[in-house]
Amino acid sequence: MSDATDAGAPRPRVTIETLAERKARREPIVMVTAYDHPSARAADAAGVDVVLVGDSAAMTVLGYDSTVPITADEMIMLASAVRRGLTSPLMVADLPFGSYEDSDEQAVATARRFAESTGCDAVKIEGGGAIVDRARAIVAAGIPVMGHVGLTPQTAVDFRAQGRTAEAARDIRDAALALQDAGCFALVFEAIPGDVTEAVMPGLRIPVIGIGAGPGTDGQVLVFHDLLGISEGRPARFVKRYADLRAAMVAGVAAYADDVRSRRYPAPEHGYAMAAGEAERLRELL
Ligand code: KIV
Repeated sequence: MSDATDAGAPRPRVTIETLAERKARREPIVMVTAYDHPSARAADAAGVDVVLVGDSAAMTVLGYDSTVPITADEMIMLASAVRRGLTSPLMVADLPFGSYEDSDEQAVATARRFAESTGCDAVKIEGGGAIVDRARAIVAAGIPVMGHVGLTPQTAVDFRAQGRTAEAARDIRDAALALQDAGCFALVFEAIPGDVTEAVMPGLRIPVIGIGAGPGTDGQVLVFHDLLGISEGRPARFVKRYADLRAAMVAGVAAYADDVRSRRYPAPEHGYAMAAGEAERLRELL
């Protein structure tokens, strides 16, 4: 049974070394996204290993229709709130679209800004190709980097599973190996066939966290709002829902609205009393 509610036993901080040990021992790594203080506190209490402040925040909490518009300032505000809520998990923050791709200098400056102003333990960037150089530069500046291959929503034009042909799968393998060589401490594989994962994993010494990449990775990540059923609409094929919080939230707010309209709320127990005799004195005074 989980000790998630055992407030008296603080868990040790998860480090990059912890994740490497988990991989070596073939113990699955649990990663989840969080975007604010309550979601960070929930992830922390549940005992996850890694919390990702994903740029999926653009859609899950800021209401944009893709991850592209979210800014570094917006991400930093969210990541800072997450930091204040975490005690044990490793915290990774996504660098948003447009904040790191142009040059190594831009990538290092943005990664430094995130590390210094949010206290994140690592940053995540998306893609292979030129992004491999950006990863190498950030690592050289002393900031750990998580890579991300397969479906990379910041630049995707096709949001279906990636790597469905042998050549496309080979490109994903090449990008993953290049990111590993560049010094990334871990990778995310998003939306690729399980067969591709199985074929690529033997070449990787670093932990790989999958989302829609089958069971063959070293760990799994899901978006907080997807796994808890807070998001509206049909979830992606790879999402497993563990709760229906949106229904609970709507029902709770509707019950409150009903109570206010029918004057059942507030009841006497929700109010404050004046000191003894002061109500009479007030009436005289007024
Ligand atoms: O932004 C995000 O939530 C992510 C995960 C899907 C890995 O990048």
